Amino acid sequence: MRIEINKIRTLELLLFLYCLSHTTLQAQKTKMPIEKKWWKEAVVYQIYPRSFKDSDGDGVGDIKGIISKLDYIKSLGIDAVWLNPIYSSPNEDNGYDISNYREIMKDFGTMQDFDLLLKEMHKRDIKLIMDLVVNHSSDEHEWFKQSRSSRDNPYRNYYHWWPAEQGKPPYRWSFFDVNSDAWKYDAQTNSYYLHYFSQKQPDLNWENPKVRNEVYDIMRFWLDKGIDGFRMDAFQFASKDTTWPELPKGYEKNIIKYYGVGPHLHEYLQEMNKEVFSKYDIMTVAEGAGSSPEDAMQFVDPDRKELNMAYHFESVDIGNHLKDFGLVKYKDIFSRYDQAFKDKGWLAIFLANHDQPRMVSKFGNDTPKFRAISSKMLSTFVLTMRGTPYYYCGDELGMDNIRFNSIEDYKDVDTRNKYIGLKNKGGDLRAFLEQQKQTSRENGRTPFQWDTTENEGFTTGTPWLKINPNYKTVNAEAQEKDQNSTLNYFRKLVKLRKQEPAFVYGNYTLLDKENPNVYAYKRELNGKKFIVLLNFSDTDANYNIGFLTLKSKIILGNYKSRKGIKPNILQPYEAQIIELK
Ligand code: GLC
Repeated sequence: MRIEINKIRTLELLLFLYCLSHTTLQAQKTKMPIEKKWWKEAVVYQIYPRSFKDSDGDGVGDIKGIISKLDYIKSLGIDAVWLNPIYSSPNEDNGYDISNYREIMKDFGTMQDFDLLLKEMHKRDIKLIMDLVVNHSSDEHEWFKQSRSSRDNPYRNYYHWWPAEQGKPPYRWSFFDVNSDAWKYDAQTNSYYLHYFSQKQPDLNWENPKVRNEVYDIMRFWLDKGIDGFRMDAFQFASKDTTWPELPKGYEKNIIKYYGVGPHLHEYLQEMNKEVFSKYDIMTVAEGAGSSPEDAMQFVDPDRKELNMAYHFESVDIGNHLKDFGLVKYKDIFSRYDQAFKDKGWLAIFLANHDQPRMVSKFGNDTPKFRAISSKMLSTFVLTMRGTPYYYCGDELGMDNIRFNSIEDYKDVDTRNKYIGLKNKGGDLRAFLEQQKQTSRENGRTPFQWDTTENEGFTTGTPWLKINPNYKTVNAEAQEKDQNSTLNYFRKLVKLRKQEPAFVYGNYTLLDKENPNVYAYKRELNGKKFIVLLNFSDTDANYNIGFLTLKSKIILGNYKSRKGIKPNILQPYEAQIIELK
């Protein structure tokens, strides 16, 4: 009998030792492999200034408007704001065509307003990231005015010119041109200039060291004011192969591959880092980073000393709506990128921005029944993935696509020019307008829905872009009062991310890979484990992840009650964050 008891004790001891070593091993396996940085831990909130808050009744959002809402922004729990361009601009492309990099756009206010904004943000411990557009300038920038004036002007080489006596330049595709032609003939000097975007956005010639030094000076100007970083707009296109080789037919369908990483791009980024970034404690992010995880790594590998992070477009360029491309493919993109970045480098996570339709309309379901619940589910995704979350203003309210019926309602150069181009060719305009209801950038640009007063509390004047009529039910004021609102759910998510480093730095493992409805993954760090379950469908969905123990606990979810729900089933658009003990 005594022997038996001893035997049992020994077995217990062995089991205990095994468990201990297993846990330690597991903890070691999930130890933080990545260097800690403030910008990895930050939650970034993107503000589209034109549409955020108007302070002077001209119908256009402005800097004073943002200042008046800083307490709201702070209340979200976010750490940094990325502000779309606020520099002087004739607004061909809403500020992405800069005519003076050291001045504030009149619509938005003055430099004094800007200085106050920065001060008030820092007072609240919010960092400010500026958007820098230096792949191109406005054609109204003094550099371009000089450059186009004569062939021997000192600014001539600030841009790309092709003398007409050499014939037509080799075709290049343009994102916004009516005829999709990136070379524009300019009679003044009988030459063509290059514009990857609209004709009013000529591309700067980064091969010219003078251009590069001008840009570094501009960067220093803003950094010395105390801003906290830059988003490098369209910078992946900055380096061109100036031997202008013929490109294969149809290359515009794979434009990033051909435009994405030109021959000297990384030299420029390294020089920029050495000259400017390395001298400040800031964050830098590339808009776009080639066409594969390997390309993206080149921008952000810390050993290369270029940028801190990048966002890629595979997950938004995948199609118009989740139901068209499917969840399995979608999960695969995030999982592939995460795998490539698990040891070094850093990415941004986003589902929407000012160039995209609203996240709930594209990846969720914006019918009245599911709009709020699916918005919460998508927010859960953004806030529990590895990578710095970039969260677009208005998504915390579940704002959705506007779906304009008429071309007159659109202000965006992209939609307008494509419409004209199609009209000239006698194309199907009705089909185009139908498609724009899903894809147009204007869907994400309608003014912020503050309250139920006329013009939704955005302006006392006439809004520059039509407001979404659902502001009567979808607005910040109503959601403040409702503990269960998408707004308050977003706040809880931000808080949770800040409390649990596992959501920032933890390993990510995809679970139930082939499940067409449920996105399930594990995040773990130093022995702490979380499972995130997201139902991307409008019906109940099964999942199979195997190892949920009795001790696991839902720490946050978007459904109030789960009574009567069978295990391994999620309700429509349900999100659960589970802690495994
Ligand atoms: C970036 C911006 C977009 C702009 C384009 C040209 O993609 O996000 O809004 O139109 O660059 O500057």
